[in-house]
Amino acid sequence: MNPAPNLVLVGPMGSGKSSIGRRLAERFGLAFLDADREIEAQAGASIATIFECAGEADFRAREQAVLATLLAGEGTVIATGGGAVVDPRTRRLLRERGFVVHLHIDVPRQLQRLARDRTRPLLAADDREQVLRRLAETRDPLYAEVADLRFDTASMNANDTVARLGHLLDLRWQMAAVPAGSTAP
Ligand code: S3P
Repeated sequence: MNPAPNLVLVGPMGSGKSSIGRRLAERFGLAFLDADREIEAQAGASIATIFECAGEADFRAREQAVLATLLAGEGTVIATGGGAVVDPRTRRLLRERGFVVHLHIDVPRQLQRLARDRTRPLLAADDREQVLRRLAETRDPLYAEVADLRFDTASMNANDTVARLGHLLDLRWQMAAVPAGSTAP
């Protein structure tokens, strides 16, 4: 059993962090928080607009600040954006303040799920497959670094995923208060 005050989902775009996170929150009777939606609410602008007008570095700074605030709370299920783990401060906070689930999905499945998506600025490229492969290469080790549990979402629908993952979490995650700033085990 790993004690942690929050349940956090990390993983690449299209892995189902928001939809699975919302359902897991219902199952455990916890509040659901979506970091991307919080960033948009605070900025009063969509992620696409933030990227376009202020650039990716500005978005990453907002992402780090929002996650620091969300992770300071407890008893929440938090869906992060696919690039959240790139910031070392966020990785440290994730380990300290979350039981972290890495939702894994392979690139062909990602391409299928995101085929009609026009909202994600990093996918505004001619060769989406190359973009996703390059991101996976750099980020997969970072997801592994922070994760308490890796879960493959590719072959299941959302209901089956939540049932299976919920059962694993019953066995592995103990929701417990950990003072902010204490060192992760
Ligand atoms: C990003 C993933 C997106 C969003 C932004 C950047 C990334 O979130 O934060 O478009 O760097 O992979 P999702 O993983 O929820 O799509």
